[in-house]
This record gives sequence, structure tokens and C-alpha cells, in this order.
Amino acid sequence: MQLRVRSGLSLRGTATAPGDKSISHRALLLAAIAQDKSEVYGWLPAADCQATLRAVRAMGVPVEHRAPDSLIIHGRGLRGLRPPGSQTVLDCQGSGTTMRLLAGILAGYPATSVLDGHAGLRRRPMERVAIPLRLMGAQVETTNGCPPITIRGGTLRAIEYTMPVASAQVKSAILLAGLYAEGETVILQPGPARDHTERMLRAQGVHILQSDNTVRLRPSERPLAPLRLTVPADFSSAAFMLVAALLVPDSEVLLDHTNVNPTRTGLLDVLQAMGAHIQVGEMKEQGGEPVADLLVRSATLQAGQVAGELVVRMIDEFPIFAVAATQASGSTIVRDAQELRVKESDRIAAVATELRKMGAHIQERPDGFIVEGPVTLQGAYVDSHGDHRLAMALVVAGLIARGETVVHGCEVIGDSFPGFVPIMRQLGANIEEV
Ligand code: S3P
Repeated sequence: MQLRVRSGLSLRGTATAPGDKSISHRALLLAAIAQDKSEVYGWLPAADCQATLRAVRAMGVPVEHRAPDSLIIHGRGLRGLRPPGSQTVLDCQGSGTTMRLLAGILAGYPATSVLDGHAGLRRRPMERVAIPLRLMGAQVETTNGCPPITIRGGTLRAIEYTMPVASAQVKSAILLAGLYAEGETVILQPGPARDHTERMLRAQGVHILQSDNTVRLRPSERPLAPLRLTVPADFSSAAFMLVAALLVPDSEVLLDHTNVNPTRTGLLDVLQAMGAHIQVGEMKEQGGEPVADLLVRSATLQAGQVAGELVVRMIDEFPIFAVAATQASGSTIVRDAQELRVKESDRIAAVATELRKMGAHIQERPDGFIVEGPVTLQGAYVDSHGDHRLAMALVVAGLIARGETVVHGCEVIGDSFPGFVPIMRQLGANIEEV
């Protein structure tokens, strides 16, 4: 699917980003191993989360849809899943979160499970979960470090593990395996990776402590309590509308009820430091997470710097941040972000290649990029590289480019934000399917 984008009118109105993808995955998995009936509203019916839904059902968990975004999940208890065995592959499609979190749960089951996915997922590193799960006592085989992976789980022991990279998926896999292990699981993370698993497990009655970058989990024989949860709007999806409103002249957009969990909002901090006027409304709580309305108006940006822990707190936002950086005056420098090379695409190479086609001055670095701005972007024929966040970032770039931009490979937008085009159109964006 290709989208044709033209610059034009200002963006105005109120929009709600779809349900948080990370929380939607976790809601299914944690409800599946909880007792009784969980109710989840505002669930994200995107391709990635559908992969988790299918996997959970394949393991014998009844899930009813009351509406596309409302689920009733009949939990089977911590040890009540039915892994399908070595002859049936659990297909995680393109979803790294599905594969890595599921690996943590399956490590606790005395069965053989095979997890695989499509070509994009087969390129992503899996030793990072295999290593700690092996230390806990599971047998885990990867295919040259990548999927398919085979897990033979069973009796686990707790570990104290220092993660070499700040990854919420790895942390969550270890915490989930920790539910099945004897003793206290301790994880030391190099940076503040998103903490949704910790928040949700705590709400389910699990003893879990967080201080600085250390997380401790003590399992108990008590079953996990069911969830009753309304998933907050995904900050990472809101980010595309937020940057579009900042960059398209004379715009004003209100993004309501957006998740502003501090482990996710690094983009907000860096853009504010670059001169963006983003008003954060009164903080409320929804589904155990802080939410707030974000009021965004167009602004003139100065160059910014991103490194260290800030990278972790905005790990999914670099494609759209690069677009913002093309409009900031001076050199915007991103360092310590080598993780971007193993996301849905090599986001350093892919972002630089595609934005250069539009006239951006962007240089790749092994661990980031440097953007010189501001430049007037030119409409071009660009490609998503099979990466949903790059596709949406390029659409936003098209909104401020001179002439027409065609973004190829936009079907992947449905991996995280199926309603992206209609919502952007409602705000006034000129986007057409061609
Ligand atoms: C996610 C964690 C992050 C993020 C991904 C979703 C999660 O990945 O990039 O989109 O839901 O835990 P890493 O754990 O690899 O950093």
C-alpha cells in the first residue's frame, strides 16, 4: 500500500492515540496466566497484538471480543497454559514483544515450544533473552542467534542478572520466568526501560520492588489476580501527531488521555528543550499509568542532543525525532543509540537513506546520527523498509515537504496504528491511498 502526501492546511483538532501497544501485549499475556476473568478495554487491535492474541488462544486461553478493543480473557492460572508442543509453531509474525515475553512464560513450562515469525522478525536478536533464561535453567536454542527459537522449560531458579542492554522485552521475559522460579529474581538494567510489566504484575498482587535501575521480584504460590484495565493511549503513536502539529505551520492539536509514563516520554523532554511548546495537562491515572492531555502548537525548533538514558526513554521515537530535527536550526546529535540498528529495520541506516531522498542533511554514525537543519524538505518517492514507525515518520515528513511525497510499503502501519490515516486526515492532513 502506498500513501501520497501533500503539504497543505494546518492541523487542528483533538485526537486520541490508540491503546498502548506494549500494555496491550502484556494485558493478554498476564491475564492468560492470571486466575478468573480479566477485562481489558481500549486494547490495541493492531497486527502485533493480534499475534499475541492468537498465541494465547493457541495455548488454550478463551478470549472473547466484546468490541474490537474490548476483551474478556479467561485466565488459566500460572501453570494452566497448554503449550502446543514441538510440532506446532507459535507464530509471532513481526512482533518482537510477543516472542520475547512469551519465551519468559514458556521457560516455566515442562514442555517443548517453538516460536517463529516472519522474515523481519527472523532478523532480530534473540540470544539476549535466551542467555538469561538458560541461566535460570531453561534449554533455549536460537537459529544463529535469531528466530526460530526452541524452548524446553521446567524447574527454574532465580538469578541476579545485569542486562547488557536496557531492554524492556528482556527485562519482562526474565520477570515472567521469575514467576516460575524459586527465590528472588534481581535485574540490574543499564537504563530505565519501560516498566509496564512491573506495574501490571504489582496490580496482580506480585511482590515486586523497583529502585533506581534495579528490579526485584519474589514469586509466591498465590495466583495472579485478574486484570480490570483500560489501556491508556500510546505515547509512541501520539508522537507522530505531536511532531506533525509542531512542524506544520499554524497548527494546534490536543492529544487527550495520553500515557505519560516517564520511561516513555523522552521525546517530550528533548523537544521541550529544543523550544517546543507542549502543554502537559493535569496528570490522572488510568490502568496503573499516568495519563495527561498534551496540547501542541507549531514551533520553531533549535538543535538538540540525545544520549545516555534519554535514548532508552524515547527508543521508539527516533524515526519521527529525525524528521523534527530536519526543521531545527543547528546540528542535532544522537549518540548511544546503537539499539536502533536491531529494531523493525536498521533505523539508523533506513531513516538516513529515506530522509536524504527528501533533501535532509543527515549523517549516519555507528550509534546514532547527526542532522543539520533547518532544510526545506522536497517531496520524493520513499520506502518504509517494512517498518511501521518509519512509514509514519515519512508521512509526517511529506506534510512539510515541497511537492508530493509517496511512501511505499505503508501496509505495515497496521502493526501498531491501524487508524493512523483517518485520524491524520481528521486533523487536516492531505493523505491519500494510491
Ligand atoms: C517494547 C520494548 C522496546 C520497544 C518495543 C516495545 C516492549 O524494545 O522498542 O517497541 O513492549 O517491551 P526493547 O525491549 O528491545 O528495547
